[in-house]
Amino acid sequence: MFRTHLCSNLDETNIGESVKLCGWCNTYRDHGGIIFIDLRDKSGIVQLVCDPSSLAYNDASLVRDEFVLIVEGIVRARGDGLENPRLKTGKIEVVLNSLIIENRSKTPPITIGDLNTNEELRLKYRYLDLRSKESFNIFKLRSDITLKVRECLGKMDFLEVETPVLTRATPEGARDYLVPSRVYNGEFFALPQSPQLFKQLLMIGGFDRYFQIAKCFRDEDLRADRQPEFSQIDVEMSFCDQDDVINVAEILLKEIFGICGYAINTPFMRMSYNEAMEKYGSDKPDLRFDLPLLDIGECFLDSSNDVFKDIANNLDKNRFKALKVPNGDSFFTRKLLSECDDFVRKFGAKGLAYIQARDGDLKGPIIKFLSNSSLEKMKNLLSIKDGDIIFFGAGEKHIILDYMGRLRLKIASMMNLVDDNEFKFLWVVDFPMFEYADSRLKALHHPFTMPNNIDEDDPLRIGSIAYDVVLNGVELGGGSIRNHKFDIQKKVFELLGIDENEANEKFGFLLEALSYGAPPHGGFAIGLDRLVMLLAKQNSIRDVIAFPKTQKSTCLLTDAPSSIDRMQLNELGLRIKDNKDNKEWK
Ligand code: AMO
Ligand code: AMP
Repeated sequence: MFRTHLCSNLDETNIGESVKLCGWCNTYRDHGGIIFIDLRDKSGIVQLVCDPSSLAYNDASLVRDEFVLIVEGIVRARGDGLENPRLKTGKIEVVLNSLIIENRSKTPPITIGDLNTNEELRLKYRYLDLRSKESFNIFKLRSDITLKVRECLGKMDFLEVETPVLTRATPEGARDYLVPSRVYNGEFFALPQSPQLFKQLLMIGGFDRYFQIAKCFRDEDLRADRQPEFSQIDVEMSFCDQDDVINVAEILLKEIFGICGYAINTPFMRMSYNEAMEKYGSDKPDLRFDLPLLDIGECFLDSSNDVFKDIANNLDKNRFKALKVPNGDSFFTRKLLSECDDFVRKFGAKGLAYIQARDGDLKGPIIKFLSNSSLEKMKNLLSIKDGDIIFFGAGEKHIILDYMGRLRLKIASMMNLVDDNEFKFLWVVDFPMFEYADSRLKALHHPFTMPNNIDEDDPLRIGSIAYDVVLNGVELGGGSIRNHKFDIQKKVFELLGIDENEANEKFGFLLEALSYGAPPHGGFAIGLDRLVMLLAKQNSIRDVIAFPKTQKSTCLLTDAPSSIDRMQLNELGLRIKDNKDNKEWK
């Protein structure tokens, strides 16, 4: 038997007992002949002591950091004043009778548990990084969550089904990771960006309720909450409407948050996409603080500044938004004002106008452009009080909403307005079906979402039955009711400029399946990594993925991606270009 206890499970009730433990040397100290070793396993740390009279002394004196030890000893109370209140086992220690050095370790390149260590080193030596109690707790939570997902969805009659990883390109909108076929040179599998089409096929297959904890692959620019390879809690159901799907997602999230003792209230608030964009400049607003964007174009209709006047008189395409920070005047020093100005300019602002409410008066560089009656109107519209500062953005709609939304977040963080212990859930609903991007029409969610007014003349006015669940300003998940009608699906492809050949080539199998009696169906997918990140209060999803990729999509641990040898290339029928600009082939 290797052990009788885990290190951190020992306490005063074990005093006098002989125990066997194993683990790693966390720290080694020699205090004038008496050796202290902090022994660590997944549960935590316990202090071992050994004096020169012990049979274990010679071996103990050879121990260094991260050596693997198997020890046996007697639990005793620490002397008065020697207790360590920071350690769960701080009231006791284990007096060594025997110690086996089971394995040695080179001097570790990182300090285990030290989050200030350079991240590249932590990723290269991820297995050492994972040895810390903090890491273990994150992965214990992640495991508890996936077990809960299975229990909760299982109880609601959802069937867990695996879908292929080697497949055709799916329509999620990022670049695909491709896998060359050896058998069919020149042809490729794509790794799924999500199991979207397969889960729909499972509904057509009559399974009625499906879920999967699915690996998804997207070759896109990475950020703190994006990885090229990530996991979704993926759900689909038949004979359901939007409320049915939202209800399942809420039950699931409530159960998951219950694991950590958080009682979250359902139903979550709902807000239309339009309102979210207009009021918060984002389709994933953080509602832990208020600071809404307010329309004040009407105060500038007769402005003496032609630029402002033109913007205000064309609010079809433009926006004139105010962001009032109550009692913000004294906070925003010149330096901070110029920091905000620099910030919004990075996102296309031509400037950042502001008005300060001081001594019963309004001050600031744009007051001169406003008539007295417009100033009065603004005071009323915004309920301005002495001590407030109001920021303004005026210009093209999507630019204003974007940078004013970002400014809102920045100000909240500058002024510490965010309560880190709060969870604010929100459903964003009523998305438009299409958006205009890169000079063409694109599906805002994906083309298999059910439009709710397909015959509308202007495609940009066609709505969709799609919904996103947002938590604290992070898009946690999303889904939609799908298009189960062949004719409407064809129409959507037409509007997207996907002709029949292309549609058949790319999604022919789905279109055909839709013509064999597809039930009404819909579902959602929650980003598991983002969920764990928020619950574990981490800042990056890299912290909650056992072996994550860097911001540059590489794995520092295995040094992937790597080149492959000529034999393999030949088998796959591939040649590698020397470099991007060089047209020669090896
Ligand atoms: P969507 O593309 O919105 O929907 O993805 C659902 C959720 O997956 C998470 N997510 C990511 N997490 C980490 N890294 C990434 N690169 C990444 N991309 C997405 C997000 C997101 O909300 N098939 C649809 C779902 C459906 O309609 O049922 C889909 O994949 O948390
Ligand atoms: P100007 O007359 O150009 O000095 O502008 C007066 C104030 O308005 C300055 O504080 C500018 O930063 C700001 N400003 C200029 N253009 C815009 C705009 N499109 N939106 C918001 N503020 C602006």
